[in-house]
Amino acid sequence: MLSLRWRFEQCRETTDRPLSSAEMTVGVVGLGYVGLPLVVAFAEAGDRVVALDIDPLKVAAVGKGESYIEDIPSERLRAVLPQIRATHRYADLAQAEAVLICVPTPLTDNREPDLGPLDAAAQSLTQVVQPGQLIVLESTTYPGTTRERLVPMLEGSGLRVGDDISVAFSPERVDPGRTDYTLRNTPKVVGGITPACAERAETLYGRVCDHVVKVSTPEAAEMTKLLENIFRSVNIALVNELAILCERMGIDIWEVVDAASTKPYGFMRFEPGPGMGGHCLPVDPFYLTWRARQFHMSTEFIELAGKINQQMPYHCVERIERALNDVARPVKGSKILVLGASYKGGVGDIRESPGLRIIEVLAERGGIVSYHDDFVPSLPDLGLESVPLEGAAEEADAVVLVTAHPGIDYSGMVERSSLFVDLRGVTRGVRLDHLVRL
Ligand SMILES: NC(=O)c1ccc[n+]([C@@H]2O[C@H](COP(=O)([O-])OP(=O)(O)OC[C@H]3O[C@@H](n4cnc5c(N)ncnc54)[C@H](O)[C@@H]3O)[C@@H](O)[C@H]2O)c1
Repeated sequence: MLSLRWRFEQCRETTDRPLSSAEMTVGVVGLGYVGLPLVVAFAEAGDRVVALDIDPLKVAAVGKGESYIEDIPSERLRAVLPQIRATHRYADLAQAEAVLICVPTPLTDNREPDLGPLDAAAQSLTQVVQPGQLIVLESTTYPGTTRERLVPMLEGSGLRVGDDISVAFSPERVDPGRTDYTLRNTPKVVGGITPACAERAETLYGRVCDHVVKVSTPEAAEMTKLLENIFRSVNIALVNELAILCERMGIDIWEVVDAASTKPYGFMRFEPGPGMGGHCLPVDPFYLTWRARQFHMSTEFIELAGKINQQMPYHCVERIERALNDVARPVKGSKILVLGASYKGGVGDIRESPGLRIIEVLAERGGIVSYHDDFVPSLPDLGLESVPLEGAAEEADAVVLVTAHPGIDYSGMVERSSLFVDLRGVTRGVRLDHLVRL
């Protein structure tokens, strides 16, 4: 009842009032890797949650307590299902005290920000936004999006941000597949349009996060997320470039990374690999590149890192070709088994996965490519289905480890293959004639 009373008090001081300390109603827009964990977290904190998506399959699945996100077991979702209302109707958000926007922020074909999903969500929200509501954008985006794009759209409702409604940006830091750092124990950064907006966002996230870090503006919060992702992208590119150099120099990059990691300060471990995947690292930095151009600046580190990381799948294909060549086999006509199609271990997300590029290029060159991935049962665009592991290594002319999932006996796979190419370093330290590492 508290939320209803709060909703109908349409006075100018609505945004000065703290959010309810008792149970509240929270709306989550976009039920993907970011949104669904938030739905469950707020429900577990005792709140009611309006879980909204335009994808009817996701709405139906959430409504039935069936999770499609690896980090959220269905049992966990079902345990809080009575508190969750899964919907595709924006009108249902009118009952929420806070609404979190977690829609995708991809790039267009020209590698420019595609704010279409955000615009669509904001436009729909404008029709139903209520005085006193707190709206938080969680999607990763360039600095200025919240203030210059979201606020004007919401104000199209006739409500004023800072007076009638509150708006903040809070970047999501979820790392799919990770269990040691979760929403609860990963500090949450928030930046509000006004100090009161930030305070209300701080109170909201305090319900599900142990530590909330308030920054002075949404722009600072937006830039914080980009710095984190660009930091990773640049460092991965650095170690990838060194991996290529080490190979030419006959030095084992994995041994070097392990040794450098013994330094207790001033070094942070990053591992080479077949390239960067997922929704974030290959995409987010280019939001800043685009924005920087409006300030007459080019972001050299971002561009260079992107270039090196995008080259990695091609470098890996060349490595596979050379390994086959060394046993007198061309790619054309060779049976190549790829292990792991998702972009990282323990998840089924194939967005921007370098494994897909590797499979494509090998197939273009005449390789007879199959793959195994328990998290990715099929790759419809490539016309492939995951093959069983049983007997697969023995049959292949080359086995290529692209993504290492937990629970697979890779040393057994190495033993059973005639040629094994390890692009993830799981065999580091092992020397065998038929084993080749990135
Ligand atoms: N996946 C991650 O690990 C991660 C981590 C941190 C930040 N992010 C950022 O969070 C945002 C969301 O990422 P994600 O991985 O959860 O994406 P996702 O594609 O898994 O989920 C987004 C959901 O939004 C829905 N959607 C699209 N338009 C909508 C609309 N107008 N109204 C309602 N729902 C709509 C889609 O149907 C989809 O279910 C992105 O900006 C991403 O960069 C992602």
